[in-house]
Amino acid sequence: MTKTAVETYEITLEPSGKVITVKEGQTILDAAIRNGVQVAYGCRHGSCAACKCQVLEGDYEVMDRVSEYSLMSFEREEGFTLMCSTLVESDLVIEVEEEESDLPFFAVSDFEAEVVENVACTHDIHMIKLKLQEPQNIEYASGQFFEFEIPSLDDTRAYSLANKYEEGSMIEFHVKRVPEGKGSNYMCDLQVGDTVTGSGPYGSMQLRSKDKDLIFIAGGSGMAPIKSLLEELFSQSFEKEAWFFYGARSKKDLYLTEEWEELVRQHPNFHFVPALSQPAPSDVWDGETGFIADVISRTLDDTSNMDAYLCGPPIMIETACDALSKSGMKGTNIAYDEF
Ligand SMILES: Cc1cc2nc3c(=O)[nH]c(=O)nc-3n(C[C@H](O)[C@H](O)[C@H](O)COP(=O)(O)OP(=O)(O)OC[C@H]3O[C@@H](n4cnc5c(N)ncnc54)[C@H](O)[C@@H]3O)c2cc1C
Ligand code: FES
Repeated sequence: MTKTAVETYEITLEPSGKVITVKEGQTILDAAIRNGVQVAYGCRHGSCAACKCQVLEGDYEVMDRVSEYSLMSFEREEGFTLMCSTLVESDLVIEVEEEESDLPFFAVSDFEAEVVENVACTHDIHMIKLKLQEPQNIEYASGQFFEFEIPSLDDTRAYSLANKYEEGSMIEFHVKRVPEGKGSNYMCDLQVGDTVTGSGPYGSMQLRSKDKDLIFIAGGSGMAPIKSLLEELFSQSFEKEAWFFYGARSKKDLYLTEEWEELVRQHPNFHFVPALSQPAPSDVWDGETGFIADVISRTLDDTSNMDAYLCGPPIMIETACDALSKSGMKGTNIAYDEF
């Protein structure tokens, strides 16, 4: 065993043979990402099972947050575990598929930031702007997310970056207040001048190609990473067509509509399609109605040569992906974060 005074262990990744170090209390996934190893992951919270690996040798503890649904008993008995929710108790050997990606990799950093703005955009979504204090700059790709420490939970919650990276500028997040949700209420109740801590960037939902027609689909605070991606897209030359479908229940759930309409005026190749699934009787609305998946099917009949980026609740992602697949889109051309 190579346990040292600073309580670090070694994890050997098979089949590559790469060796990374992990601190006691750190998850396998966190160690992998911070060592620059590219592996598949999603929620970082034990729910999506995207980060499954098999432990071949060594001792470890699976965190309580992992449900039977995400990691079944027979899998646990065979040594499978979720990297994002496994703490290391000795040197380990694990089998994990490393990803080959052309996307840029940005180093993960712990941060401390000051709240400079917190405004309610709708009855339940807040736009929160932060100024990084330590370090004063963290490079990230549009579409990625940061994790915030939530003091009352002794745990973290993920929130997507809503603006494109600009050195030293403010970073923006859109947070939906979830009833009884400790993380979202902590974020929405932040006051100007408060300090928050966390780490990032994480995630692989990054802009892949600007040489194709692109579809962006969001619901609720899922607008955040899509806004960041669209800001990046239109900050450079983009000559193809881009559609942004935004699903909301009623008019009171829409936000930043004027900003999107302004982008439409500036860029004739940008199409903004907001749709209401349950307009209130008082809503004056002559736009699209119904579920966003149906609106996509009505608007685009051939998506076979396009890329899509989606962010929103699981049911919206599932139905929208079905609609895209029926109109010819390949699964490999779809990137999404669901929450
Ligand atoms: C990669 C990633 C990026 C994310 N980015 C964002 C973002 O930009 N903006 C954002 O608002 N959230 C985002 N989330 C979700 C966020 O991390 C939290 O899960 C969410 O804020 C709820 O945390 P909580 O502590 O308030 O609620 P919890 O205490 O975790 O949950 C409270 C209750 O609410 C339910 N619940 C949890 N989340 C939701 C939800 N979204 N809608 C309805 N009910 C819910 C739970 O099932 C539970 O019953 C992201 C999640 C991931 C994995
Ligand atoms: S279970 Fe989702 S990233 Fe680990």
